[in-house]
Amino acid sequence: MQSEMRILGIETSCDETGVAIYDSEKGLLAHTLYSQVTIHAEYGGVVPELASRDHIRKIIPLIEEVMTEAGLCRKEINGVAYTAGPGLVGALLVGACIGRTIGFAWNVPTIGVHHMEGHLLAPMLEPNPPSFPFIALLVSGGHTQLVKVAKMGCYEILGESVDDAVGEAFDKTAKLLGLGYPGGAALAELADQGNPDRFHFPRPMIDRPGLEFSFSGLKTFAANTITSQSQDQQTRADIARAFQDAVVETLMIKCRRALHLTGWKTLVVAGGVGANRALREQLQQMVVGESAAVYFPRQEFCTDNGAMIAYVGCQRLLAGEHIDLSIKVYPRWPLSDL
Ligand code: KG4
Ligand code: ZN
Repeated sequence: MQSEMRILGIETSCDETGVAIYDSEKGLLAHTLYSQVTIHAEYGGVVPELASRDHIRKIIPLIEEVMTEAGLCRKEINGVAYTAGPGLVGALLVGACIGRTIGFAWNVPTIGVHHMEGHLLAPMLEPNPPSFPFIALLVSGGHTQLVKVAKMGCYEILGESVDDAVGEAFDKTAKLLGLGYPGGAALAELADQGNPDRFHFPRPMIDRPGLEFSFSGLKTFAANTITSQSQDQQTRADIARAFQDAVVETLMIKCRRALHLTGWKTLVVAGGVGANRALREQLQQMVVGESAAVYFPRQEFCTDNGAMIAYVGCQRLLAGEHIDLSIKVYPRWPLSDL
């Protein structure tokens, strides 16, 4: 087995084209990201066909960019990793075809990576990474899950959302507040100007035992509050604040419960909503009371990126895994299948 490996990572599961190079000894050498957000904004959501076409346009120049930034030639790349799912099938196929083809042309092993495993292990890219085992809170536009991570590749889902994902609830509420799409970060910014005492939103499913989540009722509660109130700037900010406080407290309560249930002392938070400052602050406070520790990826690696895919690909290739010449993607792919 090779001791040092430099892996090219490619992420194209949704509306961001991410490319990175990870070195098993030196860490991340280069990464770049192109976001399609302006293309989809006018439609109020991701248009799959437009996403696939734009990945095709951007992927090769972005690969050239990271190779130049890392100062590497193709002979110095020892493997290629691409996101194989879950995600939009057309978008996934672009990264899979390019990744598999480069692997073939450069004569290096290739591996298809699970997008959520990428998110889950993104904190490993930080200077002070968590150690196994840990509880992971995965909060993105498509997922809300608490996962028991015994070691890499060993994932047990402890609980997940029975309806909307938390990022989806952020985005839908943001849209109702006229904040565009995807509006999670804009809603968080508006919430900073809100009065925390004006509205009180329910904390869904905290009275029931277990680690399941539900966010669609909260979104409806927000919709009803918005239509019953005047739409001045302060009222919109107060609603955003009440919504965010309810989401953050609910996530915090379930994380604390997961730590109690397992007796584990390490919490990892990942996925786009992990960029939320209020969530990060509340979880930091909560773990102090539990004599536990919480780890986050840096803000830019909370949302989709190529670095997390290069990292996971590197670990799996180092362990001797790789795929054959076929190109496969999995639009639906349970993390517990890994
Ligand atoms: O992980 P991600 O980039 O893509 C998926 O795999 O889904 O997550 C995107 C989600 C979107 O719903 C976006 O609104 C949300 O993360 N998001 C945030 C923040 N930044 C991104 N939600 C709340 N607060 C933020 N600061
Ligand atoms: Zn993602």
